[in-house]
Amino acid sequence: MSKAAGADPGRPFLRVDVLTIFPGIFESPLRESLLGKAIAAGVLEVAVHDIREHSDDPHRKVDDYAFGGGPGMVMAPGPIVAAAEALGEGPRRVVLLSPAGRRLDQPMVRGLAVAGRLVLICGRYEGVDERVAEVLGAEEVSIGDYVLAGGELAALVVLEAVSRLVPGVLGNEASLAAESFEGEGLLDHPHYTRPREFRGLAVPDVLLSGNHAAIAEWRRRAAMEKTRRNRPDLLA
Ligand code: ADE
Repeated sequence: MSKAAGADPGRPFLRVDVLTIFPGIFESPLRESLLGKAIAAGVLEVAVHDIREHSDDPHRKVDDYAFGGGPGMVMAPGPIVAAAEALGEGPRRVVLLSPAGRRLDQPMVRGLAVAGRLVLICGRYEGVDERVAEVLGAEEVSIGDYVLAGGELAALVVLEAVSRLVPGVLGNEASLAAESFEGEGLLDHPHYTRPREFRGLAVPDVLLSGNHAAIAEWRRRAAMEKTRRNRPDLLA
């Protein structure tokens, strides 16, 4: 369910529930910088839940051997599904962080930012029992083609990327349109600030010219050049 700006006074634009066996990983990232400010301002609400609280094992075990054999343990479906169901009913998008998921990109981030409510599930061990995604209607999302030790850092990546798009979080929404992966599909152009010369490298003259059309044209060319160099796949 999406929420329009100002639609629901007193309620955050986005509520995120995180399910993890390492809640401590989220403590400082949720306190600092952009996420910390958004939460303090009340436009973003994040609750972190320990999956182990929903284990019915006396040792709070949440994993088990893989059917079919093979190395490593698999996260059992029971505790994760119980943790998700304890959040109650209501419309939400459920995301299971996994290197086997669909790769996160800015269009996906834009979609998640207007969901109103998100549940992020962090897997560990060799993987998560396949039935978790089926039972919870979860989308599997990967943050890139490499393998982390678990989904926690991936969930923080999703959380930060999504939060930047929540109205009132950035404070400078104009800068959003120009940056990489927005607008024309090019990488962002290079940026410069003072001093005008640093270690023998001067800021391009055109940026000091005050000629806005010339500056826009230089930035467009420089963005194109940077994209060709760093991400030729975006131009193909
Ligand atoms: N868990 C482990 N590796 C991951 C990745 N690349 N993306 C999302 N979750 C993960």
